[in-house]
Amino acid sequence: MMSEIPVKKKRQCQPGPPLPANPEDHVCFPGVVLCLVEKRMGASRRAFLTALARRKGFCVEGANRSSLLYLPSERVTHVVSEGNSGEEVVEWMKRNGSRSVGAAGSGPALLDLSWFTESMSAGQPVEIKARHCLTVTVHEETLQGRCQVAAYACQRHTPLAHKNQQLTGALEAMAEESLFCGSEGRSLAFSRAASVLKSLPWTVRSLKDLSSLPGIGEHSRRIIQEVLEDGASAEVENVRQSERYQTMKHFTKIFGVGVKTAGRWYQEGLRTISDLQAHHAKLNNAQQAGLLHYRDLNSPVTCSEAEAIVQVVQKAVEQFLHGASVMLTGGFRRGKQTGHDVDLLITHPTEGQEVGLLSKVISWLDSQGFLLYHSTYRNTLQALEDEELSVSAATMDRFDRCFSIFRLSSMTWEHDCELNGSGGAHCRKAVRVDLVVTPYSQFPFALLGWTGSKNFERDLRRFCKREKKMVLNSHTLYHTEKKIFLSAASEEEIFQHLGLDFIPPEQRNA
Ligand code: UTP
Ligand code: MN
Repeated sequence: MMSEIPVKKKRQCQPGPPLPANPEDHVCFPGVVLCLVEKRMGASRRAFLTALARRKGFCVEGANRSSLLYLPSERVTHVVSEGNSGEEVVEWMKRNGSRSVGAAGSGPALLDLSWFTESMSAGQPVEIKARHCLTVTVHEETLQGRCQVAAYACQRHTPLAHKNQQLTGALEAMAEESLFCGSEGRSLAFSRAASVLKSLPWTVRSLKDLSSLPGIGEHSRRIIQEVLEDGASAEVENVRQSERYQTMKHFTKIFGVGVKTAGRWYQEGLRTISDLQAHHAKLNNAQQAGLLHYRDLNSPVTCSEAEAIVQVVQKAVEQFLHGASVMLTGGFRRGKQTGHDVDLLITHPTEGQEVGLLSKVISWLDSQGFLLYHSTYRNTLQALEDEELSVSAATMDRFDRCFSIFRLSSMTWEHDCELNGSGGAHCRKAVRVDLVVTPYSQFPFALLGWTGSKNFERDLRRFCKREKKMVLNSHTLYHTEKKIFLSAASEEEIFQHLGLDFIPPEQRNA
């Protein structure tokens, strides 16, 4: 088979023979897109190797275009070259306009011809071994150019789908475990590291990749190293399998149960929900409801369920206050297809009209049988964090909130029931809903505050405090030195006050 590949000629100036018109013909390995580097290989040898690979069912990019115009596309997974160093190939790719030069392991694999010849012999792509790979020494400036990652999540774009799921999953398990142990600082450090990795448009493949990233602490680095080297972290796997972690996760998934209660139950030797019942664990109203609807509340809420709830609440709100609006926020506004709850903001363009609205809406929803549980709060200064104390009480006391559990029935949800094939009569589901009523002037702040993600919000507030001497919450923005409130008619204006580029909701998945 190897003899099919002709010996390389010293110099190749002429373009090679014409190639098959349709490079996608007979592609047998759709996940593999080759790119052959013409430099040192020469045009005709490249053409020959391209034709050979295509006969064997490989997809080869670009070779039927003039090499001068050739741009390696984002689809390319394997870059094969002959007689070039890794740096030369990276240089060639950059010159040809490729965005992901394979520095430090990101982008396509940079391979020696040996991988290609072995794959041709095998009739399929062979596993990439170290001996096939071209090594690239990463220059400081390359790293800097690629990784200008801002320190605060509110300065970064973080899409929902990202390229480092395995690493962020491991770090988030550690963050959760730290919370379960009462180590909030440690938890925050793991969350921050995960959040930085979520913002990267490339995959972390080596420890060197971390050198230019902010917010990756020593412990996070160790976890990342383990995952990169062994495919998993022993420490994380131990956590995931530990009885304590699993029990704490189980208990904290009960609506109304926090880390403290879950920890106490664990200490008392309780492990399962049946244990709670058998031992008559003392439960408050929220927890009783949480236990009763455990299964529903832990199955993801879909977009159409969320929309159905918006419709119901809109209808309720309209009855008492014409012109009031209901807006879906939280994860759904960030583009998530499912969520753990439905976060709704209610307001009216005439400031003051919204006063007293929530209790009327709740009573009506309750009378119509929509509520399985509800608990209404009126925010007071005592309930706020320290950093928020500088904001006057007057701006706070009209901010009403209701934690509730809705009963979504076939009446509100017919379409999905049909899709699910379940009988209408049995088609009921308990869904967690947060209702928040906000005065119109505070609406942009509430919208920004309730859209999340939690990491995004935390960094936004940290940024304000540390970098701008301002205090931001879901009601206002306050300048602590100038001692003034900064008003805003939109989220965009809040970002402007802070000197930040606007980050759209779907890029706030930090
Ligand atoms: P959620 O906990 O509902 O998270 O809070 P989420 O991002 O929507 O994700 P899922 O899909 O439901 O799990 C939404 C945002 O509301 C704010 C937080 O900033 C959070 O990011 N929030 C939540 C508050 O301001 N106060 C709260 O008491 C709860
Ligand atoms: Mn939510």
